Amino acid sequence: MDKIVIKGGRKLKGSVRIGGAKNAVLPVMTACLLTRGVSVIRNVPNLADVMTMKAVLEGLGARISQRGRTIRVDTTSVEGHEAPYELVRTMRASAYVLGPLLASVGKARVSLPGGCAWGPRPVDLHIRAMHELGAKVEIDHGYIMATAGRLKGSTIRFSMPSVGATGNTMMAASRAKGKTVIANAAREPEITALADFLNRMGGKVRGAGTETIEIEGVDALSPAEVKVIPDRIEAGTYMIAGAITAGDIVVDNCVPEHVDAITRKLRQCGVTVETTRNRIHVKGSRKIQSVDVLTSPFPGFPTDMQAQYMALMTVARGVCVISETIFKDRFTHVPELRRLGADIKIEGNTAHVGYAGKLSGAPVMATDLRASAALVLAGLVAAGETHISRVYHIDRGYEAIEEKMSGLRADISRVPE
Ligand code: EPZ
Repeated sequence: MDKIVIKGGRKLKGSVRIGGAKNAVLPVMTACLLTRGVSVIRNVPNLADVMTMKAVLEGLGARISQRGRTIRVDTTSVEGHEAPYELVRTMRASAYVLGPLLASVGKARVSLPGGCAWGPRPVDLHIRAMHELGAKVEIDHGYIMATAGRLKGSTIRFSMPSVGATGNTMMAASRAKGKTVIANAAREPEITALADFLNRMGGKVRGAGTETIEIEGVDALSPAEVKVIPDRIEAGTYMIAGAITAGDIVVDNCVPEHVDAITRKLRQCGVTVETTRNRIHVKGSRKIQSVDVLTSPFPGFPTDMQAQYMALMTVARGVCVISETIFKDRFTHVPELRRLGADIKIEGNTAHVGYAGKLSGAPVMATDLRASAALVLAGLVAAGETHISRVYHIDRGYEAIEEKMSGLRADISRVPE
């Protein structure tokens, strides 16, 4: 295993190019199962989770080839229907095969995802939606066992705007008989991107990006080509890197309106943020103000930016309250940030973050994807060296983070542990 070593104290300068979005490419890859033939996906990020999703699709009989950042997904000989435990437990997003398999093969055997670093990650909303579309769904020995004839359109209201359940339902409904309405749908840009791909395939999806999505089922979909949207969480992470080091950086090839909530919050903290069509210019300051935040579904402040924002608040003046409303216990980064000198108290789903003055470098351990990013950000300003172990967590969602950070003048390297 590798570790990342950072010598803190440098102001970041320069520009960084954002890659394709992890949470957009994963459902687009499984949507290819809705048709037989060769679909082309461009601007694919080089991430461990994409490799895992390739393995899931190849396990079903798909053939995947790659040239640069373009992958060709050939589903001509797909006949499998199982997403095995060893793949699903490493990546919950493997559950995205459920809807496409039910719609195209009529059966699916998908391992329950189990938990992750911050508690249970149920899929009850996915299962209930498939049931409402006419599938027979049972849980047996840790697997979802689902079968269906032709799925039938229905009105499905989610108790919470689940990204995964919205994506799975859109894909299943795209080939159902009749119309499906999803009420209280997730509004994330990755859902809109998935709808765009389904429509390129000949689907009829309307209203993606709003809380009500209407899908007119069609008898068949065709292979299509699509370009993956930029990763808004990678963009937000680099925005905070510029802010926390009082640097001056340009985040290039991003979609500013996808990170509006982050931009607004950073401006409240005293960070200068200027946006153009596909660029964000961030100028940090030595006097970051503490500002409360509450995570919420898009277009609110993203839960996937909570850990990174907390890193910034550890060196901000004052005390702030960070409320995590999407996931219970998504605070595994807190004990590690405390090792760097952060002053953080947890009360239920809120963290009270005080001004730690100077952070000091120390060996710390990554526990999950976004927690690892928070440790990198804190390491950029901690005095001395910070050694972050278990960086495989980072590789799931950040491509070449040490190259990109070095390109911004950070003193960062990856060394064998
Ligand atoms: C997606 O996960 C993202 N992953 C997560 O990003 C992100 O944190 C999350 O959405 C919220 O924005 C991908 O897109 C691959 P949810 P997902 O269903 O779909 C509860 C990252 O760092 N829930 O929107 O699993 C759930 O427990 C990852 O890139 C149910 O109760 O999230 C949570 O409390 C981490 N039953 C809430 O809904 C269900 O059937 C939101 O979860 C489904 C979800």
